[in-house]
Parts: sequence; C-alpha cells; structure tokens
Amino acid sequence: MRKNNKSFSFKPFSEKQRRLMNWWREGSPHADCNMVIADGAVRSGKTIAMICGFFLWSFDTFKGKHETFILAGKTIGALKKNVIAPALSIFDAWGRKYHYVSSGDEARIEVGGNVYYLYDAHNERSRERLQGLTAAGALADEVALFPRSFVEQMIARCSVDGAKLWLNCNPESPAHFVKAELIDKAEQKNIYVLHFRMEDNLALSEKVRQFFRNAFTGVFYRRFILGEWALTDGLVYQDFADDPASYTITEIPRIQYATIGVDFGGTGSAHSFTLTGFTPGYESVVILAEYYHSNKDGRALNPDQLQNAFVEFVREARKKFNVYEAFCDSAEQTLIRGLQGAVSRAGIAIDVRNARKGPINDRIMFYNSLIAQGRFFIHSSCKNTIKAMCEAVYNSKNKTEDERLDDGSTNIDSLDSMEYSTESVQAEIIYLGMR
Ligand SMILES: Nc1ncnc2c1ncn2[C@@H]1O[C@H](COP(=O)(O)OP(=O)(O)O)[C@@H](O)[C@H]1O
Ligand SMILES: [Mg+2]
Repeated sequence: MRKNNKSFSFKPFSEKQRRLMNWWREGSPHADCNMVIADGAVRSGKTIAMICGFFLWSFDTFKGKHETFILAGKTIGALKKNVIAPALSIFDAWGRKYHYVSSGDEARIEVGGNVYYLYDAHNERSRERLQGLTAAGALADEVALFPRSFVEQMIARCSVDGAKLWLNCNPESPAHFVKAELIDKAEQKNIYVLHFRMEDNLALSEKVRQFFRNAFTGVFYRRFILGEWALTDGLVYQDFADDPASYTITEIPRIQYATIGVDFGGTGSAHSFTLTGFTPGYESVVILAEYYHSNKDGRALNPDQLQNAFVEFVREARKKFNVYEAFCDSAEQTLIRGLQGAVSRAGIAIDVRNARKGPINDRIMFYNSLIAQGRFFIHSSCKNTIKAMCEAVYNSKNKTEDERLDDGSTNIDSLDSMEYSTESVQAEIIYLGMR
C-alpha cells in the first residue's frame, strides 16, 4: 500500500458540485439514474466533484464486492493528470489506503478489494481492451473527446447490477453524439444531467476566472466559458479574419529566439516554411517570415531546389534571430534527411527534426487563444499566411465535429508550417497568463 505525499486540500464545494457527488444516494430523486453527465464551462469543478462522487459511490455501493471499474481519459497522460493524481491525493485526504500500478495494460488502482483500471479512449485498440470486461461502473473524463465506439463499448461493459456511468465534458458542436444521443435524450435514457458554469467552482480565484474569460472568443467563448454546445461560425480564425490589419506589424519587437516550421507539398499543393519568433517570457508570438512555393502547374521543385530554398531561408533567418530548431512534417522522412544533409553541408548548426503533429484542433485553439489575448502578431511580408488565416473555414458537411476544411480549396500548407513552428511550446505559452 502506497501513500501519496500531498493530500488534497479541499475548499468548500458548491451546491452543483454537491449534487454531482450525492445524486446516487438513497432518497435522492435521481438515485435510479444509471448515468450522470456533467457538462459545461472549463475549470467549473466538474472533474474534482466527479472523482469524489464516483469513488464515494463505488466504495459505498460495492464495499467488499471485488468489482471492476473503468477510469477513462482521452490519453493516459491526460487521465493521470486530471483524474489519477487528484484521486490519489483525495484518498490521502480521506485516509483511504490504496495500491497504484501506474503503467502497462494492467495499470490500475486497487482500493478496498475493488479494482479501477486505467483506459485511454484514443483509438480502436483502446476499445478492444474494453471487450470482455464486466464492470460495475465507469468514470469518463472529457468524454466529448472520445471516439463514439469507445463510449458505446464502455456503456455496454457496465453490466453489473447497480452499475453507473459518470461522464464529464466541455461542450463541442451541437450535433456531437454526447449532446445529441445522451444529453438531449436524457429523460428517455434515464440520465441525470448537470450543467456547470465557472461560478460553480468556489475554489477558483477571480483572477483565474478572468484569465479564462479573456482566453477565448467566438464559438470557443460560448463553449468553454458559457458552456453552450455551440456551432462553429464558419471561419476558423474569426477574429483575425474580421480585422487582419490590427494583427499585422511592420516593426519587429525584441525576439528572444525563433523557430522554423516546414510543411512539404505534393504536386497539388505547396512547400511552406514559417519563421516564428517569441518575445521575452513568451509574452507574444510573432510570425516573422514565410517561404511559399506552389507546386501546381508543373512547378514542382526537385530535391536540390527544395534544399537550396531551405538553406537560404535558414541563413536569412539567422542573420537576425537566434534560430536553433526546425520542425518538419514527419510524413516526409526522405525530404527531412535531405534538409538535414543540406544544412550540415552549408555549415549551419540547426536541429532539423520531426514536428509533433498533435491534434489540429488543439493548434487552432492555441492560435485563437493567442489572438483573443492580444499576443499574436504577423509581419506584413507574410502575405500567404495572412491570406490563409483569413480564408480558413470549417467543413460545413461535418456536423458532429470541428474539422478544418482541407480539400485544396484553401491554403492549409501555410497554416501547417506555422503550427509546426509553435507546437512544442504551445501548452507552456497558453497558460502563462495564469501564473
Ligand atoms: N472543492 C474544491 N476544493 C479544492 N479545489 C477545487 C475544488 N473544486 C475544484 N477545485 C479545483 O479547481 C480547478 C478546476 O476544477 P476541475 O474539477 O478540474 O474543473 P473542470 O473539470 O470543470 O475543468 C482544479 O484545480 C480543482 O482542483
Ligand atoms: Mg475536467
């Protein structure tokens, strides 16, 4: 039995949080529901109250029964950070003994004879891992980010008498299955829905609340602050597109260091390099320079020409800025090796490596958040990038999730290379204003 060092320091729970913790108790009008969904604003206290409620319920209902439970997150990393770490410190605060196995397919927490297995709801393999399981309950954190097949399998696995499912999420588009199939059919499906607002988290300081209000605009403000299942309004970078001139600069501020993003184009698209600068303390992100070459109409570059263009771009960048890294589209390993060889022959010390290529919607959120916070600028020479940001739209045919249209009708290449240049520091930069 292990003990965590830091036990959770509880602040008073709001009424909404207390409902989420206690709805299952005898005498509650919702006690016979077999699922609870807590949706709504970010940082509204959904996850913490759900962890408390879920474990209190499972300890109370299945005491000494040796049952199996599901703890699911979008990724194992997210699950550990958002659910497991707080849960263990809550157990410590409660004086509960537990045994935690943190890795492998059998990663789990054992408490009082019950076993809680960790799942990432990531891909098809995650769903397969659920097969054959007989569970007495599940906690799904950020469930709107899970594939539908995983959620369906998870519901089917909770077949023990008295089993309950605990789901929480921030809103997505109104046609998302969590909204359309569960929340909107709550009565018929015997689901208890609790809608959270930031005010439902009493532990949040006004400063942090204000930070989050300022960090989103447009559809993201409606979803993450107001907690509405809002539809995207067409343009991906709405605020930027409304007034590109107010983000465009001709004088470059002091740049601490800069990175390069590289997207390689096929015959129907373009090669794009983006040089992106960071002001001291990551206060602002500044798009400093771009290279854009369309391969259309028989204008494809041969490998030598591409390498020369890159070496030239890096040389120019390094005349003015500290540039040590280039992040390239990892789908093109041969081209990357070509660039590595070329810079090395040119005697330039720059690390040419794979871009991370995380979820596109995370990158979009990052840029929109910077724009909302007044921390994004672009040099007037970057004409293709400015145009690309003004034109980018969501695919209107996809009603269930946000999908940036990428059918060749708009310039996605400039956006890709811009995003590759910042992806490695994205998470760090966005939460800076919070500290
Ligand atoms: N009753 C509470 N006591 C102490 N901290 C709390 C309490 N409720 C929420 N918090 C803290 O507020 C922050 C946001 O809560 P969280 O449950 O993660 O929100 P959400 O899941 O809605 O985004 C977390 O740091 C969490 O630990
Ligand atoms: Mg949460």
